Amino acid sequence: MVGNPILLINFKTYEEGTGDRGLKMAKIIEKVAMETKANIAIAVQIAEIQRIASEISIPVYSQHMDGIHYGSNTGWILPETIKNAGAAGTILNHSEHQMKPDALREAVERAKEVRLKTVVCANTPEMAKQVTKFSPDYIAVEPPELIGGTVSISKAKPEVITNSLKSVGSIPLLVGAGVKNKEDVKKAIQLGASGVLVASGVMKALNPEKAIKELVAGLNV
Ligand code: G3P
Repeated sequence: MVGNPILLINFKTYEEGTGDRGLKMAKIIEKVAMETKANIAIAVQIAEIQRIASEISIPVYSQHMDGIHYGSNTGWILPETIKNAGAAGTILNHSEHQMKPDALREAVERAKEVRLKTVVCANTPEMAKQVTKFSPDYIAVEPPELIGGTVSISKAKPEVITNSLKSVGSIPLLVGAGVKNKEDVKKAIQLGASGVLVASGVMKALNPEKAIKELVAGLNV
């Protein structure tokens, strides 16, 4: 990612973020990033990284990766493959794809070896503190019960943001879950977050371009 604050848009496996629709969505996001000069990155499905990364210029992240090496690891995700496909980094330990501590540590180490940025997710400020020992590039805190909902972390649980800031020390903190509008982003940044993760607020928006512009408006406050 290139500077703060950041908007990281996670495509998850939403239909709107898959295949041709995913590429179209990526191009809309790139257009807004160019027009507004905002730092926007996207996290796409692994099989989509190469195609999308070859067609757009903003950073493309993987949604997961495994801390493995070349060899006999059927079905696992090799860091070198992600890197060669054009990824700038990877999300790790998302609430929807949690990893055991040892696996997470190995994945962060391998990501560093191949020069992929890491966004390590944590469900709570306490978990955020535990993952600081892996020294990821970013720690992202998302209360699972708010993910995909209509009420944001900024509104429902601002204390999770402030407590997480104390947990992560000097590692930049991203926050997410339920983020839908300018006010949600603005409050997160004002509280001290270095950026915001969002998925459904863009993927399920009737007008994604408008939704992205709305979120970007809250970034620089
Ligand atoms: O990775 C971001 C994501 O978990 C947040 O989802 O739909 O609440 O913006 P959403």
